[in-house]
Amino acid sequence: MAHPIILVAGARPNFMKVGPIHSELVRRGLESMLVHTGQHYDHNMSQVFFDDLGISNPDFYMGVGSDSHSRQTAKIMVQFEELCMKHKPRLVVVVGDVNSTLACAITSAKLHIPVAHVEAGLRSNDMTMPEEVNRVLTDRVSDFLFTTSRGASENLVREGIDSGKIHFVGNVMIDSLTYAVNNMANSTIVSELSLGGIDYGIITLHRPSNVDDYETLSGMLDAIKQISLEKRLVFPAHPRTINSLNSFGFMETIDANDNISITQPLGYLDFVKLVSHSIFVMTDSGGLQEETTFLGVPCITLRENTERPITVTQGTNIIAGTSKQSILNSFSNLDFHSEWSKPELWDGRSASRIVKIIENIDY
Ligand code: UD1
Repeated sequence: MAHPIILVAGARPNFMKVGPIHSELVRRGLESMLVHTGQHYDHNMSQVFFDDLGISNPDFYMGVGSDSHSRQTAKIMVQFEELCMKHKPRLVVVVGDVNSTLACAITSAKLHIPVAHVEAGLRSNDMTMPEEVNRVLTDRVSDFLFTTSRGASENLVREGIDSGKIHFVGNVMIDSLTYAVNNMANSTIVSELSLGGIDYGIITLHRPSNVDDYETLSGMLDAIKQISLEKRLVFPAHPRTINSLNSFGFMETIDANDNISITQPLGYLDFVKLVSHSIFVMTDSGGLQEETTFLGVPCITLRENTERPITVTQGTNIIAGTSKQSILNSFSNLDFHSEWSKPELWDGRSASRIVKIIENIDY
């Protein structure tokens, strides 16, 4: 393959972003290579997304697995450098803000290979978040910065990035979400969990700052237990969270609570079906703040800040913080009735805008 476009995916939130871009590259006959770093590797953290979204198998799988931040990033860089030296890509496309994103962006920049960053310009302005470090550094070395909102484009201009490199294309994750909404009819998850006709909420938690700290997790679980007295809750738990719940000794109380169903991480179609039928979501995920905004489902974000302010100004999102009382206050203030409009260009056609720009690059 002569000078392919390399598209990188590594962790769960990447797969729904690379899927639509990959199929658009293929549809337009552009030579491409899909690379999976293996940052996430469990079947239900990785392969299930390829199956559910019809993404073809990666052309190259690194299998780096879990490790410390530096070791994980370094292992990806070493393999990605070899891959780039061998295939001499004309462009490397990275998405999101995980360690795989940063590792491949830096490697490409040092080899003078142009980098395109999809979901550029998001800022929490909290450099204690590993994802914020990844976002800022990836944007700094990127040549094409594709943003999901005008606010994200403005962040980049404020940081001194040449406006000619910035392209507001909308939210490619919504392309996958739209696909999932149209293809989730066969998912039986709502009946499997006996939720038919029931008002229920969903919880997801995975951020190290929330789940690795005993006091923080304990306070959040107290709030969750209290909310479960009023509403049925479903808790698809990230592997990191399952580990913490077990090691801190919280799992037994959750298991014993008939109003909380804890499950393994779910596949994409099941998860989207569950969210679209829920009456609210409590989460520390970035992507889910956007998905709930698009679906019009009220969202309580269990963090002190968000890099996705459009979900608050224009969507269903409330930034609750992580203390028991602030979570309970947010729950009692939830607005179940308003209608929300969808953010600009969150219309299911972002991949086509991105690939159109990529296709016209003068390599
Ligand atoms: C990563 C991303 C985060 C993203 C999240 C979504 C970084 C810095 N963080 O966090 O931005 O929101 O993915 O899930 O890149 N594990 C498994 N099986 C797996 C994957 C992970 O058991 O398939 C466990 C391992 O115990 C591992 C832990 O989860 O130590 C964390 O995985 P890691 O990739 O380091 O980061 P996440 O917390 O998942």
